[in-house]
Amino acid sequence: MSTLSTPRLKIAVLGSGSGSNCQSIIDAIRDGQLHAEIVCIISDVEDAFILERARQHDLPAQYVSAAPFKTKLDADAEQAYIKIMQDAGAEVIVLAGFMRIIKKGLLQAFDGRILNIHPSLLPSFPGLHAWKQALNYGVKVTGCTVHFVDEGTDTGPIIIQRSVPVLDDDTAESLHARIQVQEHLAYTEALRYMVDKCLHKEGRRVTVCTP
Ligand code: GAR
Repeated sequence: MSTLSTPRLKIAVLGSGSGSNCQSIIDAIRDGQLHAEIVCIISDVEDAFILERARQHDLPAQYVSAAPFKTKLDADAEQAYIKIMQDAGAEVIVLAGFMRIIKKGLLQAFDGRILNIHPSLLPSFPGLHAWKQALNYGVKVTGCTVHFVDEGTDTGPIIIQRSVPVLDDDTAESLHARIQVQEHLAYTEALRYMVDKCLHKEGRRVTVCTP
């Protein structure tokens, strides 16, 4: 268990949207549930609500354009993102609804220290709108996954999964909302593992260990 004298884990958050996962991390830190600090928040979407949340909590945040590509960062943007996060002293990158694929440069700069949350029980339904994919497929259980990021799309080693039932009267919106409740718990839990315990990776298997 971390104490007041141990340094806080320095987290950078990347997001493209509402930032509710980022909010759950902000809240966990504020409530003393997570011994960490958010050292920077970057969005590739100028009017993303995640930036507004950052302002409301006086956290350093900025919009950094990732044009011209839609699904990845171009080389200049990648370097800009790396520099901002390194200058801020980030130890871990948390992807919180960041809708771009992470490429080699960023992976190498933060080797094994990038986490993502995905709204399905991977390896089912990688990619976009995973909750809609689950609903359309007709599965009865879906959920969310926190995983390390590798070169693939939603393919990295899994840290935590939480399940969510699919109800007969679910819409895409109601299902996503129920998944998000579990996402907020899962992300803070995964980060607590990194702060208070340690994560051991062997091949694809990740286990929680005692430091
Ligand atoms: C979350 O549901 C997250 O799992 C999803 O985007 C949403 C962002 O919500 N991410 C992906 O689909 C990535 N493949 P938030 O902005 O409120 O945290």
